[in-house]
Amino acid sequence: MSNPSLLVLAGDGIGPEVMAEVVKIIGWYGDKRGLHFAVEHDLVGGCAYDAHGTPLTDATMAKAQAADAVLLGAVGGPKYDSLDFSVKPERGLLRLRKEMDLYANLRPAQCFDALADFSSLKKDVVAGLDIMIVRELTSGVYFGEPRGIFKEGNERVGINTQRYTESEIARVARSAFELARRRGNKVCSMEKANVMESGILWRDVVTEVHQAEYADVELSHMYADAGAMQLTRWPKQFDVIVTDNLFGDLLSDLAAMLTGSLGMLPSASLGAPMENGRPKALYEPVHGSAPDIAGQGKANPIACVLSFAMALRYSFDQGDEAARLEKAVEQVLADGVRTADLLGEDGRTPVSTSQMGDAIVAALDASLT
Ligand code: IPM
Ligand code: MG
Repeated sequence: MSNPSLLVLAGDGIGPEVMAEVVKIIGWYGDKRGLHFAVEHDLVGGCAYDAHGTPLTDATMAKAQAADAVLLGAVGGPKYDSLDFSVKPERGLLRLRKEMDLYANLRPAQCFDALADFSSLKKDVVAGLDIMIVRELTSGVYFGEPRGIFKEGNERVGINTQRYTESEIARVARSAFELARRRGNKVCSMEKANVMESGILWRDVVTEVHQAEYADVELSHMYADAGAMQLTRWPKQFDVIVTDNLFGDLLSDLAAMLTGSLGMLPSASLGAPMENGRPKALYEPVHGSAPDIAGQGKANPIACVLSFAMALRYSFDQGDEAARLEKAVEQVLADGVRTADLLGEDGRTPVSTSQMGDAIVAALDASLT
């Protein structure tokens, strides 16, 4: 059988720097674990716009559709702020999500012991935190029609539409319940059923799927604003949170900061199974392109590295190897290795992006002895 294929789209800003460390680790798995991947690199976002006048070419889209998994770095930057909306870097990412139909976005927020002091919340609130946000990724206000800026009389009006079908809600709810069964067996669904019809339907459909198929899982509902409040008050009350595209975007940034740094959090975006049984999948860090520190070797590659660990687990059935990589990251942090984002004002010298990658590779080596 041929090696599984990975399409690597490093993108803009710190994307290429953090992805370079992942490429080292992919090489390590080939050399040391006999896990070989056929890796191909291509462009997405601003760099694709610079080269081709579009943030994602049809050829790259076709490669993504055919790959066993896509690894993405980050897109965007101030250089592209004035571009027409239709060719902005983010449109490339949104096209990948939509056309690959990656409806379930898994965003774990885990607090590493070594970093518990670094959170802006008290240590006992975050120590041992391990929650999973499942964000619907291909519908809702991100894609609903009508949308646009229109003229109404003598002023402009900006319109976006929150739209969800029953089947869109049901499939992401199933993803959340399935995950919960393998974790703490609890799902909290978040919407705004107090003000939005789409929220009422969301709550109804999640409840129906629960009763029909997952009655063994504990289900609760929360308004998304109260959910944000509860996430900062006592985040450990949650196991799996399932929510829509926009609320999921907000809540996952919030949850990320509970863990100390946005530079730590990976994500997996999963769709329906392909012919080979693997889900359509794209893996990317939750953080953005961080243009302010791009090109300086300061970025934390851990979110991107942990995204590859998610690829090992969810695309390639290598749960043990994923755990090995996660352990290596934990070890490096326990040893006190820190990129600048994990230091704040504490006076220690941070390591560079590539030194962090090397430390993780060394910890992987050590895991074999
Ligand atoms: C994310 C990002 C994206 C989003 C942007 C870059 C389009 O914030 O993945 O959370 O809003 O979904
Ligand atoms: Mg976001």
